[in-house]
Parts: sequence; C-alpha cells; structure tokens
Amino acid sequence: MSILVTGGAGYIGSHTVVELLNTNREVVIVDDFSNSKPEVLDAIKKITGKDFKFYNIDYSDKEKMDKVFKENKIDAVLNFAGYKAVGESVQKPIEYYTNNVAGTLNLLDVMRNNNVKKFVFSSSATVYGKPEVIPITEDCKTGGTTNPYGTSKLFIEQILKDLYKSDNSWEIVILRYFNPIGAHESGLIGEEPQGIPNNLMPYIVRVANGTLKELSVFGNDYNTHDGTGVRDYIHVVDLAKGHINALEKLEKEGQGLYIYNLGTGKGYSVLDIVKAFEESTGMKVPYKIAPRREGDIDICYSDPTKAKEELGWVAEKDLNQMCKDSWNYINKK
Ligand code: WQD
Repeated sequence: MSILVTGGAGYIGSHTVVELLNTNREVVIVDDFSNSKPEVLDAIKKITGKDFKFYNIDYSDKEKMDKVFKENKIDAVLNFAGYKAVGESVQKPIEYYTNNVAGTLNLLDVMRNNNVKKFVFSSSATVYGKPEVIPITEDCKTGGTTNPYGTSKLFIEQILKDLYKSDNSWEIVILRYFNPIGAHESGLIGEEPQGIPNNLMPYIVRVANGTLKELSVFGNDYNTHDGTGVRDYIHVVDLAKGHINALEKLEKEGQGLYIYNLGTGKGYSVLDIVKAFEESTGMKVPYKIAPRREGDIDICYSDPTKAKEELGWVAEKDLNQMCKDSWNYINKK
C-alpha cells in the first residue's frame, strides 16, 4: 500500500516524503513543478537512499489522477498541492480558488471513485483570522480571513466537514500549520520562493548572504513585547513528522474528522527572530522599521496540546536549529 503525496516536490511536501520514506512507507508523488524543481526528487533519494514513484501531472486533472489510483494501491492521500502566496492570491483570486478549492474537490472525487477515503489536508493558522484568544486552540472561532489564499483553506475545511457528514466512512485529518521555517539538516531540500520572498525567514537569509540589502520590519507599534509581530515558528521537519503521527492516528482510530494545530506553542517577535538568527549563524541582518503590512495581525501562536495528547506529537527543534538549518540550506545551494 502506498501513500499518495500531491505537491511532493514542494517545501513541506518534500520534507514529509523524506519522513514517510524514513518510516518505510511506499510513496507515490504527484507534482507538476509549478512551484518546485525536479532536482528536489533526486535530493529526496539522496537523503533517504530510497526510491518512490513519480508522476509529472496536475493534481486537479481527474482523468490522469484516476490512472494514478488505478496503477497503484493507494492507502491514503496527503495533499500539499496548492498555491500559497498570500499577496499573489489577492491579485489572482480565480487562479487560487480554481487550483486550491476546485483542485481539492477533483481530488476528493477521484478518491471517492476509487474508494480511498484516508485524507490529510494541509490547512493553515490563517483560518483563525484575527484570533480572539491566544494561545489558539482548535475550537477557537475560524473565519475572517483577509485574502483568497486563507479563504481557500477555510473553504476546503468546510468542504471536508460536509463530506464527512455525508459519509462518515471517510478518515480525515486537517492540520493547521503555524509558520514553517528551517530546512532538512542535510541542506539538500528547503524553501525556494520565486522572486523576492514575502515571508520573514526566506527574506532574512537573503539579507544575511547579501542578495537583499536590508530587512524591512513591518511595524513596531503592535501590542507585543517589543512592538513587532509575534508568530509561532515551527521547524519544517517537525511539521513533516506531524503528518506521520496523523497517518498513524487514522491507522489506529479509523473513521472520523480530526483537526490539529501544528505549532510549538511559543511566540517570537520579528526582532526576536533577527536576534536569534544573528546569534546562531554569526551573520548580521541589517534592518529598518517600515510601515505595517496590510492584513497582518499582532500576535498568533498555537496551543499544541491537542496534537500532543491525541497524536503523541510535539515539536522538538528550537529556534536556534530553525535559524541554522535555514541558513545552511541557502549556503549549500
Ligand atoms: C511573519 C512576521 C510580518 C516579512 C503567512 C501566511 C500564512 C502562512 C505563512 C503560507 C509578520 C513580519 C515579514 C518581512 C517582516 N502561509 N515580516 N518583514 O504573515 O505570519 O503568515 O505565511 O504559506 O498563512 O499568512 O508570515 O513570514 O510573512 O511574517 O517584518 O519582510 O514577520 O509582518 O509579523 P505570516 P510571514
């Protein structure tokens, strides 16, 4: 039996494939390289010493996906395919809703037709909108997303809830990621944003290596300990491991729809991150204070207790390791 991983050449997908192979699972990857590179597949093989099946196709293509299910014995699907750039989603809502929402609907339809009903979905802390309570638990209110990317995650969560209600032989885990950073310790896979990065850590590493001049810190008048935005940064390898725990949960528990936060439960500000990065790498990160970025909130961090109690999962890598591994990846390229 194999695990089908859509978007398996992407940032979080590739790290999760490594963990799946490390735990001796058979893997089938579907990716069209719309936001990733073929070299990633070789890197995964190098890291794990293991092989997998690969299809260069669009995950939302029903006919081609049906063939993948017919040609392989698929046990469960992990869905990492999807567009993820917040700013771009505001410019291209049709593309985002088509790829993320319609794409997932097509995938679920093909799964149903092939009687495969184990599904792990990559959601995001962004579904909580502006959180009313910190730390955020899974039963906090969702909604109030401020861009089509976030809304696409919210819509898919609702679709999955409706699907489960209609047929509770489905086994679904929704994982709400907080802010993934870092890279595999080998430095062979990591985050590869196209163009100028929007997210904090990809920007910081490019300032440190001189590709970009200085970091703009978006706002220093937030209601936080130093005025800059606070987030829950989680090492991508910890996040990847959370998917193994999610699969084990489905193997043990079976039918149900389960929702978990994947975060560390710790909040760090932008300036905390700059300081930690400088200390753990010895590199300087020049920065200036800039105006707030539209749509940003002051504080967002998780209460990860539910994942600990029900999945037996906790994030193990600290901020120092996250900074080191982010830096190692950009240097090795
Ligand atoms: C973190 C903090 C910024 C860049 C977004 C999405 C979320 C998820 C991850 C995934 C904030 C500040 C940033 C910079 C800065 N999406 N910052 N200067 O906004 O928490 O989450 O990415 O694919 O759904 O909403 O992450 O890394 O962009 O920002 O000061 O150049 O860093 O204001 O406080 P965010 P981020």
